[in-house]
Amino acid sequence: MQEIQFYTGESIPLELHKVRIVQKLDLVPVERRAEAIKEAGNNTFLLKNKDIFLDMLTDSGVNAMSDRQLAAMMIADDSYAGSATFTRLTDKLEEIFGTHYFLPAHQGRAAENILAMTFVEKGTIIPMNYHFTTTKAHITRLGGYVEELVIDEGTEITSTHPFKGNFDLTRLKKLFDEKGDRIPFVRIEAGTNLIGGQPLSLENIEAVSDITHSYGKLVVMDASLLQDNLYFIKTREEKARNLSVREITKRIADKMDIIYFSARKLGFARGGGLAMRDEKLYLKMRELVPMFEGFLTYGGMSVREMEAMAVGLEETMDMDVISQGPLFIKYMTDELLRLGVPVVTPAGGLGCHLDATRFIPHVRQEEYPAGALAAALYIAGGIRGMERGTISEQREEDGSEHLASVELLRLAVPRRVFTLSQIKYAVDRIKWLYDNRNLIGGLKFVEEPSSLRFFFGRLDPVSDWQQKLVEAFRKDFGDSL
Ligand code: F0G
Repeated sequence: MQEIQFYTGESIPLELHKVRIVQKLDLVPVERRAEAIKEAGNNTFLLKNKDIFLDMLTDSGVNAMSDRQLAAMMIADDSYAGSATFTRLTDKLEEIFGTHYFLPAHQGRAAENILAMTFVEKGTIIPMNYHFTTTKAHITRLGGYVEELVIDEGTEITSTHPFKGNFDLTRLKKLFDEKGDRIPFVRIEAGTNLIGGQPLSLENIEAVSDITHSYGKLVVMDASLLQDNLYFIKTREEKARNLSVREITKRIADKMDIIYFSARKLGFARGGGLAMRDEKLYLKMRELVPMFEGFLTYGGMSVREMEAMAVGLEETMDMDVISQGPLFIKYMTDELLRLGVPVVTPAGGLGCHLDATRFIPHVRQEEYPAGALAAALYIAGGIRGMERGTISEQREEDGSEHLASVELLRLAVPRRVFTLSQIKYAVDRIKWLYDNRNLIGGLKFVEEPSSLRFFFGRLDPVSDWQQKLVEAFRKDFGDSL
């Protein structure tokens, strides 16, 4: 999808695909939405799909697939060992990344488990630009620590920095000088998820790799959100302007020792794995695959998904394909900015991120503003977002709350799934909610699991604010849904 100019001067992203299969959606009345969020313990993970109109929870495993991907699924070779599908996938990875070896895993976090079990022990430090929830959980489970080295702009909500996911190179060198013996690898997260899908520059990626290699350590890329990052390098970085997406990908891959990914994002399918050039590294991790995932030629994935992934990876080399997400997200972000709604800037990949701290400054961080905003937006519009703030953190070892550095409501825009009118609807309901923000109150835990609490935890509103929100909606919208 390119930015095609409209004669009338209107600036909207134009889809370069047509829709051939559709899925019916329901929009339930606001009263039912208030009931549904209560039943879900105010946790959008626990909502049922039948109650959801726009599912902006995640882009994971829910991107639209292409006709070519679906066609490829029909020729998948279903055999336990030696599947031709696995060879096709490995060949595609070798073609775009230059990696000869591939360890398949059922999804991204399974690849993280393999990495952590191979390299992490008590006291290990894994430096990274920013953590992802499942990554951190695997490292800390084994007694390791995550050290976040993102540049200061990374956690500033509003910024003009084009690469907010960049590493602070000075801090990286200092960490190596002080604690290098405890560091087995550095993890670079492309399209940094938790700070708003923010990219790193090619220059920064190369520098992190050079520094890390100069200390004799490994460089690992979490490439789950690489497709968005590639788009941003291509469009925002002068040095990459004349490189093709394929060339940029190869330049990045050449600097990595291991590239792992969730194929629920990269490759528009479902699955994951770890790709590498070095045989010794491959052999070091290999036995964990049959032990935890499945035999080496499927790793817990369906062969149909692997076939779709190989085609999806090829389609990731096409700017028309990978620009759709970022352009829709930019449209949504720009519209919200125009209406005065606080959002993360610049627009990143993955989704549009509302800044709950400025949206509802009257809700204290201990009462989970991002979680409260997620519940409120579901009531206001049947839109399901994901809390990315303090609820997504883990408590400290002494049980105290670890307040997140940012309180965001992530509204994911799965690739090629929503139409522009649906995005406009979301913008409209967010604006309504913003104008009624004083009605929104906080949340408190009533059931709090000790690990990954954002998945299963249940919360109650601290007052009857949700009822008041329903009343305000009825007053403004009459009988409308
Ligand atoms: N790394 C990153 C950067 C991710 O965004 C994810 C998943 C994973 C690893 C784990 O991969 O889900 O296949 O096990 N992110 C999803 C999300 C869950 O909604 O952002 P997975």
